[in-house]
Amino acid sequence: MRRKVTKAIFPVAGMGTRFLPATKAVPKEIMTLVDRPLIQYAIDEARAAGIREFIFVTSRGKSALEDYFDHAPELESALRKKGKTELLEVLKDTNMDSGAIAYIRQHKALGLGHAVWCARRLIGDEPFAVILPDDVIAAEKPCLQQMVEAYQETGGNMVAAMEVPPEKASSYGLLDVEEEMGSLVRVRGMVEKPKPEDAPSNLAVIGRYILTPKIMNNLNKMKSGAGGEIQLTDAIAQEIGGADGVYGLRFRGQRFDCGSKAGFLQATVSFGMSRPDLRDEFTSYLHEIVCTQKAAQ
Ligand code: G1P
Repeated sequence: MRRKVTKAIFPVAGMGTRFLPATKAVPKEIMTLVDRPLIQYAIDEARAAGIREFIFVTSRGKSALEDYFDHAPELESALRKKGKTELLEVLKDTNMDSGAIAYIRQHKALGLGHAVWCARRLIGDEPFAVILPDDVIAAEKPCLQQMVEAYQETGGNMVAAMEVPPEKASSYGLLDVEEEMGSLVRVRGMVEKPKPEDAPSNLAVIGRYILTPKIMNNLNKMKSGAGGEIQLTDAIAQEIGGADGVYGLRFRGQRFDCGSKAGFLQATVSFGMSRPDLRDEFTSYLHEIVCTQKAAQ
């Protein structure tokens, strides 16, 4: 039996400049799809996969995240007095057991690899997950759970993988596949944001990882890579051909790039349409505006 993955790192130190002016005052991870912040989707997915310890790598201006996961006694007692039990239930998802959540500051924006490395002392000698909250994945079985199950078979290091349009491939970490094993692939190379002519494939790393503690050692000596940043991809690539190896899992589910405005809007529409309380009204509105637009053309 492999050691269980119970710790997850959430790198949330980014400035979110693509969403200015909103992110001047609100951390990007608090921005909402319908009525739930991006970070809530990430936490729900982690919990479903058996994660019990949540490590946030933050930066200045992110204190709203700490408040979000704190208890809110005044709000809760006001809701209780008014008999709003449904809303009290909704709030429960935002509560964390004492000691289950930790915040580490990344003092300098040196890249994703550096952000993950900042959590090394809390990880110790255990396998761990990394979730990038920008990547929201709608799936019947949550993506990280699919990965944890696959990891029981493979061990080693695992990244979520998905084919992206070739013209967008250079915005991702890309995998060079050695062997197809059903929905798993064994990786023989991986490179962060290569030039189009150097891309090994259009099979991209999506923001879910299960990693061995060795990755932290690799990050210890890490030099800067693509974009002058310390890249997580480079630290994982060092494990290729080693005892543990690197795998990609073509997960089942729909991924939204909520780091981009278009992706965020697509997620909003999709989540709005799948919510029982909104579905009918929202879908008929969308239908109406599409029809009006078509008629005008
Ligand atoms: C990060 C990773 C990249 C991965 C991507 C997925 O890049 O460095 O390997 O493909 O997330 O969203 P970022 O989008 O933060 O630049």
